[in-house]
Amino acid sequence: MLQSGALQKCIEPTCGLEYPISDIRIECDRGHLLDIKYKTAPSTSLKDVFYKRRNHANNIFNESGVWRFRELLNFCQIETENFEECSKYLVSLDGAEGRLSKPYHMSKVSDYVGLKNLWLQPEGYNPSGSFKDNGMSTAVTHAKLVNIKKIICASTGNTSASAAMYAANENIECDVYIPAGEVAPGKLSQAFQFGAQVIEIKGNFDDALSVSLKKANEVGGYTVNSVNPYRIEGQKTIVFRALEHLDWNPPDWIVYPGGALGNTSSCGKSLMELYEWGWIKKIPRIAVVNSEGANTLYALYNGKFEDTKLRWNKGKPDVEIIKRYYDHMDKNGIRPKTKATAIQIARPANILKGLRALEFTNGVVTQVSDQEMMDGMALVGLNGFDCEMASGAVPASVKKLIAEEIIKKDDVVVGILTGRQKDASIPVDYHKDSKNKFANPPKS
Ligand code: F0G
Repeated sequence: MLQSGALQKCIEPTCGLEYPISDIRIECDRGHLLDIKYKTAPSTSLKDVFYKRRNHANNIFNESGVWRFRELLNFCQIETENFEECSKYLVSLDGAEGRLSKPYHMSKVSDYVGLKNLWLQPEGYNPSGSFKDNGMSTAVTHAKLVNIKKIICASTGNTSASAAMYAANENIECDVYIPAGEVAPGKLSQAFQFGAQVIEIKGNFDDALSVSLKKANEVGGYTVNSVNPYRIEGQKTIVFRALEHLDWNPPDWIVYPGGALGNTSSCGKSLMELYEWGWIKKIPRIAVVNSEGANTLYALYNGKFEDTKLRWNKGKPDVEIIKRYYDHMDKNGIRPKTKATAIQIARPANILKGLRALEFTNGVVTQVSDQEMMDGMALVGLNGFDCEMASGAVPASVKKLIAEEIIKKDDVVVGILTGRQKDASIPVDYHKDSKNKFANPPKS
């Protein structure tokens, strides 16, 4: 079953090493990231099948906003209409992942940023409260397929919450490495609550990731961070849900906050595949937003570090610039610092896949301040939706890109609100301070 139809392939065209799906690895033997590749193009007639599955008739794999699109991520190579077979292989929290997240109009955000055709997709409305569940359901599916007993991740909080949730539900062990003191309390509490083993690391997310990758090798754990190519497969469904909602007419832009760049990578991969498979004729542009305090991609992509603008360059990126930038940070004690701890990341592990996505989509990278992110977060709240500060980067960046005339006023834009509010003190403090743009201070 696993031998045909799908494989793992190195992303770098000059390398291109291939491995079967049954191999457990996050990189090729030369240390490059991997893609899952499908040998046949899924038929566009599936668009109707996906739509009909919304009337799920108690089939949790139709109810799930991830597995509803299972033919587009069928790395298990299963008979997708066979419920028994789906139940045997596919990991789902009873159909809950991706079920509520689709593009919504939020009028106050639209008015503020000055864009009529703005859609915001609240991925925080996933069972563990972030977009991670899209990719975690698929990564844990692969982990189970290869008989893993323990999954491992590093996290700024949402990955660990999601990993712990699926591990608990599937009865497998879960170790989570987190930067001590840098994780929102609501996220940390989820890891404990779902029975994961929390390991606190002195340092930031980048330090925690490097320790967790080492530990995964030593103790035989299975890494579920976004360097795992199966995570990327599940996160493609964020784009599928958005496109389906727009009748498969691609928007002009898709906007994401950028951290480790797993989302950017999966958005790029989904668009590359859909375009190659003839599902879409137009390619939306990706806009990635960094926090000003953790802006590696912004600096490198826009030539703010050295004059050269870092590009994928058809698979020949100048990786030496990245190394020089990391050395420069180390030498000068530059550490990522933002109140939006979800994206407090200085060494985006998926940077090369991210660059590939930006090249394919003619993308842009911008940055916003903590204050702008909080205002964005507050504004989403005033529409009756809640999101965390990192997701507030989306409305903030759309406003900025419109002012810079990069996004045009009649463009169709889909912004991904990546996570729900899990640090109650941030909105409470925001609203108590009347100096904040959208504050509604309490009366006594
Ligand atoms: N938004 C939220 C709410 C996140 O939790 C993250 C990443 C991102 C955006 C950035 O996404 O890494 O795909 O570019 N959180 C990770 C974690 C790192 O551990 O929960 P990315």
